[in-house]
Amino acid sequence: MDNFIFHNPVRLLFGEGQLAELKNEVPKYGKKVLLVYGGGSVKRNGLYDKVTTLLRESGAEVFELGGVEPNPRVSTARKGVDICKSEGIDLLLAVGGGSVIDCTKLIAAGAKYEGDPWDLVIKKAEVKEALPLGTVLTLAATGSEMNAGSVITNWETNEKYGWGAGVISMPKFSILDPVHTFSVPKDQTIYGIVDMMSHTFEHYFHKTANTPYQDRMCEGLLQTVMEIAPKAIEDLENYEYRETLLFCGTMALNGMINMGFRGDWATHNIEHAVSAVYDIPHGGGLAILFPNWMKHNLKHAPARFKQLAVRVFGVDPTGKTDEEAGLEGIEKLREFWNSIGAPSRLADYDIDDSKVELMADKAMANGDFGNFVTLNREDVVSILRASL
Ligand code: NZQ
Ligand code: ZN
Repeated sequence: MDNFIFHNPVRLLFGEGQLAELKNEVPKYGKKVLLVYGGGSVKRNGLYDKVTTLLRESGAEVFELGGVEPNPRVSTARKGVDICKSEGIDLLLAVGGGSVIDCTKLIAAGAKYEGDPWDLVIKKAEVKEALPLGTVLTLAATGSEMNAGSVITNWETNEKYGWGAGVISMPKFSILDPVHTFSVPKDQTIYGIVDMMSHTFEHYFHKTANTPYQDRMCEGLLQTVMEIAPKAIEDLENYEYRETLLFCGTMALNGMINMGFRGDWATHNIEHAVSAVYDIPHGGGLAILFPNWMKHNLKHAPARFKQLAVRVFGVDPTGKTDEEAGLEGIEKLREFWNSIGAPSRLADYDIDDSKVELMADKAMANGDFGNFVTLNREDVVSILRASL
């Protein structure tokens, strides 16, 4: 393992009915609350009414910013920053999926910065402080509810980048009630499943020696999600399936299963470039790209791919080279994602080869990348072409 410091102070309130805790959490941070939400799912499923009622009962003065887009835009964060500055907001409350939470993180940091919030995303300025924020998560996917990361799109420049500021950009508290995810439609449920599995794959492909327990944690998470996923998408209001997915989504990206090493993260970088140009769902993009990233890099570390194939995908390695066993595992991953209805080609989103070079340029914005295998522009083009 590499030396590490682990510090995740997010207060996690998990389980049915935990929303009532808002009354205890909110007053800790002040009276003026900016409620941030997305395109309207929270109004349709009744969560908006429950949250606003609880906020008012707790004595809060509520301000609102709705309409946060999937793949949240800096233009929306700017609106939120303006409200924070003009109204003197004390606490931000994100009610939604990863996009709403990520946008809220940028609003929280932007409220304490005098310039354009985009400066913080592109690291032109350092995030030194932020307003406190809490979350009520409605979709199991990104892990944003318990991490420091935030991914923001600038639609004017077709750029999508992640940023984070350690504890400063982490939520103070996050409320995770599986019931709040019952209304997530089947396609978004599938994208969330792909995303949490992809976070685990990003961790799994690292170069650090001696991580046996971390390997098992990653493998256990993948096995659990793969066992539950087919049942969950056929029974969207099943509490236990939703509970498992919600917990796995958080655990996949809250720093716990990847203590002591640094994962690869190249596939996420390529996906962010694809969705910066085409605005496709993050999980959909990952489902297309990840098996192709794996095939592209199989030859660099066949033993690692074989371990994944044998332990997670039940591949029998007898009489096979590591590379053959590894490839079988990658094919089983593709079969699994196909079986739950995830996309497998960019053509599924009507993306042809006309902007491959542009997407590669976007992915290469900060030079070669990938911590497990370093990718150059040629590698990225090759992975994108294999994904058409
Ligand atoms: O906008 P509303 O109307 O709320 O609808 C959303 C949206 O259309 C809907 N939805 C969410 N909860 C629902 C629901 N519909 C019905 N019932 C519910 N309970 O689902 C759609 C997608 O929501 P979104 O928040 O965009 O999805 P997700 O949580 O997958 O977030 C994706 C974003 O997170 C970024 C992605 O790049 C993408 O921008 N990521 C953030 C990360 C992080 N902060 O750590 C890491 C990830 O790798 C990822 O890159
Ligand atoms: Zn992701």
